[in-house]
Amino acid sequence: MGHVRFAQYRTGEPYIVMDDVSYRYPGAKCYALEGLNLTISKGEFVAILGEHGTGKSTFCQLLNGVIPNFQGGQMEGSVIVAGLNTQEVSVAELAQKVGIVLQDPEAQLFTTKVISEVAFGPENLCIEADEILERVRWALQVVRLTGFEERSPTSLSGGQKQRLAIAAALAMRPEVLVLDEATSQLDPVGTSEVLSVVRKLNQEYDVTIFMATHKSEEVAQFADRVDHLHGHPQERGGGSVR
Ligand SMILES: Nc1ncnc2c1ncn2[C@@H]1O[C@H](COP(=O)(O)OP(=O)(O)OP(=O)(O)O)[C@@H](O)[C@H]1O
Ligand SMILES: [Mg+2]
Repeated sequence: MGHVRFAQYRTGEPYIVMDDVSYRYPGAKCYALEGLNLTISKGEFVAILGEHGTGKSTFCQLLNGVIPNFQGGQMEGSVIVAGLNTQEVSVAELAQKVGIVLQDPEAQLFTTKVISEVAFGPENLCIEADEILERVRWALQVVRLTGFEERSPTSLSGGQKQRLAIAAALAMRPEVLVLDEATSQLDPVGTSEVLSVVRKLNQEYDVTIFMATHKSEEVAQFADRVDHLHGHPQERGGGSVR
């Protein structure tokens, strides 16, 4: 494959680089995002703020390669994550670097037990059973869901579901975690539960964080940097970062 793979990134080095990225969904007349340029360093906690429809979810999916690899459409420019060009590697390969927590956690949780939810990703990597268990134990402990192993995901509260979705992503041991409105449906208690987990991952485990949200007050206290997504596609031809 024609991509450069860097052996190791150090904290502070450019880690995610978006170069003049524009994207249009299949059949859409307008760009959902246009002319994005962004560099995120290893270990940074970056929040992206934007109103409804400015392209936050689109942005998140550009980072894990679902756009354009699964979604199709027309993409210009390039997205490099940990030395991998998202257009040149598979979504499965990127999934070992980039974990994502979707806007709607219910859409992400699909097994009948907490433990199988978290084990699912590593099981698909054909990792040995001992290591899978180790990862599951670690991920549940980080999100403070130890003891919930046998529970059904549907029985959990909103904040617990969000934390379970984070644990499922963590079991892949990602270097970057992308959170799309991970607290949008939560009350203040659920919100602070999720944010404190994300902060711990960033500070203690050096996970690079990219968090899309429309709640400015909550991210300001956590993120190293807050960028803004502006514009509505119909008016400006696509959201762009300022
Ligand atoms: N699957 C799709 N096909 C066509 N257009 C889409 C698709 N998904 C999103 N769009 C359009 O792309 C633009 C950006 O949408 P996106 O969902 O990324 O915004 P968002 O900031 O996440 O919005 P929200 O705050 O509602 O979650 C919008 O104009 C939306 O209508
Ligand atoms: Mg969205």
